[in-house]
Amino acid sequence: MSTPASVRPLSIPTTTLRDGSTIPLIGFGTSGMKGTAAVDAVASAVGSGYRLLDTAAQYGNEAAVGQGVRDSGVPRADVLVTTKVAGGDQGREAARRGVEESLRRLGLDRVDIVLIHWPNPSRGLFVETWEMLLELRAEGLISHAGVSNFRPEQLTALHDATGEWPELNQIQLSPALPRLREVSFHEEHGIATEAWGPLGGREGLFSQFALQRIAARLDVDPAQVSLRWAVDRGIIVIPKSTDPDRQRRNASLESVVLTDGDRALLATLDLGEDRVWDSRVHEEW
Ligand SMILES: NC(=O)c1ccc[n+]([C@@H]2O[C@H](COP(=O)([O-])OP(=O)(O)OC[C@H]3O[C@@H](n4cnc5c(N)ncnc54)[C@H](OP(=O)(O)O)[C@@H]3O)[C@@H](O)[C@H]2O)c1
Repeated sequence: MSTPASVRPLSIPTTTLRDGSTIPLIGFGTSGMKGTAAVDAVASAVGSGYRLLDTAAQYGNEAAVGQGVRDSGVPRADVLVTTKVAGGDQGREAARRGVEESLRRLGLDRVDIVLIHWPNPSRGLFVETWEMLLELRAEGLISHAGVSNFRPEQLTALHDATGEWPELNQIQLSPALPRLREVSFHEEHGIATEAWGPLGGREGLFSQFALQRIAARLDVDPAQVSLRWAVDRGIIVIPKSTDPDRQRRNASLESVVLTDGDRALLATLDLGEDRVWDSRVHEEW
């Protein structure tokens, strides 16, 4: 008898980072999750097949994420854990201490991916924070170094100072904010693009008729259409859900086959770059 679809292990497509290592195109976001709810959600996501997790010092849930990985029973080596250096931990020694504290909370002796959470340009510390991430990578405390919410000129400042582009930039991206210029800049420099807020909830995407119409034709969630659209562009997505059924559907996109007509319709949802949280002025701590 074949395994029912509801319990079949997820088969998540992958892409590669610049060094050739594999990374899932669909990961699991955890912002806003705390305590036992976070432990359970992470254990359920990893248990059903997610192998890429996204947390941050700022989320206050790193300990719960680490516990969820252990509770899942899946070997540590099979899961990529991402965390982020908080704004208040920027600067050489503060960033080192920040990453060490993240490791302690996660209960890990090495973290797979570390990102600078926001550039926070008012502090003028993102270049030295980047230099520290490169040092920590050379020491083996972190496997991959990247950033989040960096604009092309901020990425260029990192490269000018160190000769190294980040391996990954996690940016706000959904059919409402397609970020064409940023994605093509990343491609040009071997930087993987990862989408936060990939379901576009902040931009009211769920209520868009164009998205609903495509989802109804394919008999899938509007969320799955948004995720497929990004994955088809080679973009890593990290949808968050506390609901095990939604977690599975968000990572089950095989039947979501978009046509050129669908993509043209989705292109009409672009709200423009002005709606993106602008990291020249928006800062987080
Ligand atoms: N780097 C940054 O600055 C930054 C900023 C924001 C977020 N992030 C990361 O990106 C992750 C994802 O972003 P996000 O959490 O803001 O937004 P998101 O993943 O786009 O959307 C999450 C919301 O959509 C709902 N949802 C999930 N799957 C659904 C489905 N199939 N149908 C309908 N609703 C669904 C969730 O509710 P339920 O939980 O009830 O299912 C939740 O309210 C975060 O968790 C975090 O890890 C990074």
